[in-house]
Amino acid sequence: MEKPYIMQNGVRFYDFKKTFTYLNAYGKHKLGESFNLKEEDAGILYKLMIYTIRDEKSCDKHGLDLNKGILLTGPVGCGKTSLLTLLKHFAYIETNYTMKSTRDISAEFNIDGYPTIFKYGKTHKIYCFDDLGVEQNMKHFGNECNTIAEILLHRYELLQSQNIVTHATTNLNANELEKLYGNRVRSRLRSMFNLIAFPQSASDKRK
Ligand SMILES: Nc1ncnc2c1ncn2[C@@H]1O[C@H](COP(=O)(O)OP(=O)(O)O)[C@@H](O)[C@H]1O
Ligand SMILES: [Mg+2]
Repeated sequence: MEKPYIMQNGVRFYDFKKTFTYLNAYGKHKLGESFNLKEEDAGILYKLMIYTIRDEKSCDKHGLDLNKGILLTGPVGCGKTSLLTLLKHFAYIETNYTMKSTRDISAEFNIDGYPTIFKYGKTHKIYCFDDLGVEQNMKHFGNECNTIAEILLHRYELLQSQNIVTHATTNLNANELEKLYGNRVRSRLRSMFNLIAFPQSASDKRK
């Protein structure tokens, strides 16, 4: 597959049209032939792309702060998890991230307890917490600690003290996030994340 960029003095220059085509082919290879990037998602993809390749100028122009993470929101099935998983392919080693579903974190907490919070909240690793909110159905009887909220508060500290960003995906809107995690978390979300939002009308790709 032709690389979607040219190299000049060790710097990559991306051609977005080629990147789109390349990512589409890569998506088919990774997720199956039915994978097909939609023209209507090109705007979101473009933003995710310039952020991932750390194109500072373009990020400035589109209001993306490279010192913050990405919060990708949108309805169930619109392709959030798929896109962020595929885009890891373009990420630099230093800013690459590990996808971790909040459901798995919740399950880990139920077995290991508090060390789970430190494992994800106090580490130099960059995480993308996949699907904020779905873990709410996993709360066990007697488990009063909101694991993900605690982890997010730690990640906020991590950003303040060591510039380590966090990424996340969610189907929830800001009000729902506040209801779930409380005002303390919500007030920090804005300084932790660049919001990139699929419209509510974004198509469900599972169909
Ligand atoms: N552009 C696309 N074209 C076709 N299928 C896709 C596309 N993006 C995602 N999918 C598929 O649709 C399903 C839902 O995608 P997913 O990324 O899990 O959505 P979300 O995380 O937003 O709920 C997955 O099975 C995925 O493989
Ligand atoms: Mg998902």
